[in-house]
Amino acid sequence: MTTINQGKSIRVFSPATVSNVGSGFDIMGFAIEGAGDILEMELRNDSRLNVENLTGAALPEKIEDNVIYPVIKALQKELGVDIGMNIRFRKKINPGSGLGSSAASSVAVAYGFNKLLGSPLIKKELIDYAREGEKLASGSAHADNIAPCMLGGFVIIRSYHPLDIIEIPYPETLYCSIVFPDISIDTKKGRSVLNKSNSLKDTITQTGNAAGLVAGLMMNDYELIGRSMVDVIAEPRRKDMIPGFDNIRKAALNKNSLGCNISGSGPSVFALSTDKTTATEIKEAMVMAVMETGHKCQSWVSPISKNGVCEI
Ligand code: HSE
Repeated sequence: MTTINQGKSIRVFSPATVSNVGSGFDIMGFAIEGAGDILEMELRNDSRLNVENLTGAALPEKIEDNVIYPVIKALQKELGVDIGMNIRFRKKINPGSGLGSSAASSVAVAYGFNKLLGSPLIKKELIDYAREGEKLASGSAHADNIAPCMLGGFVIIRSYHPLDIIEIPYPETLYCSIVFPDISIDTKKGRSVLNKSNSLKDTITQTGNAAGLVAGLMMNDYELIGRSMVDVIAEPRRKDMIPGFDNIRKAALNKNSLGCNISGSGPSVFALSTDKTTATEIKEAMVMAVMETGHKCQSWVSPISKNGVCEI
């Protein structure tokens, strides 16, 4: 049931996410630790949405261009409420990083608004509303960042029509190394370079690898995970947008990474490995490879985070 309690506030953390995971274009993603958005929200006594940017990258000037706008509008309609919020962004994942920036903001407001209204919807139900933000940002309502950001863990989108979200187990010790070179790739642009249709051969290769990746994760089979992290659909058409991508991957594989791919539509690149020490060595090697291109980068080492968006 929806309960309106004007002035009620909440502080929410929503994690960065790695989507596609090589062979799972638009259908796989996982949450990471240590990077994400923090949003503070407060119910107003009128229907206005007021956004304040306290730190981090700039927000769109017009509220209608902010990913949070269609998410809140969709929830207001669904819940039959006309109440607005004051929203303060405290820390943001850079837009165009490939780490689920628009998903993190969309998920944070969906979760926060719902919670402030007495949690009439459960997290899984909120995914569809949060997708409205992704649709505004990229023209496509893909859920492979939204779903892991909401739920945490490793998530598969088995179907979009209807939405069918599967959370799967994965090895506890699986670690991820990430580099984010200092360029920005708009997801719209990242999607515009893709073929509208793919050959039967590529479809079979991609499906085989996606199935292998899921099996590897569920059977704790690291070698199978590694040899399944192959993307023949998006990565070949996107990698030239990332300076030194082949060398970054080579550096990761030389340090015993299981596999290395573009995170989302890039420019971030991630590699998986079996433990934290290896993941740290991989990260350092990937950072060196980025620096050789003359670019700076941010970098992270993280397990797959069990936690999705949460109140803090
Ligand atoms: N699956 C999406 C893509 C993720 O690769 O375009 C980026 O948001």
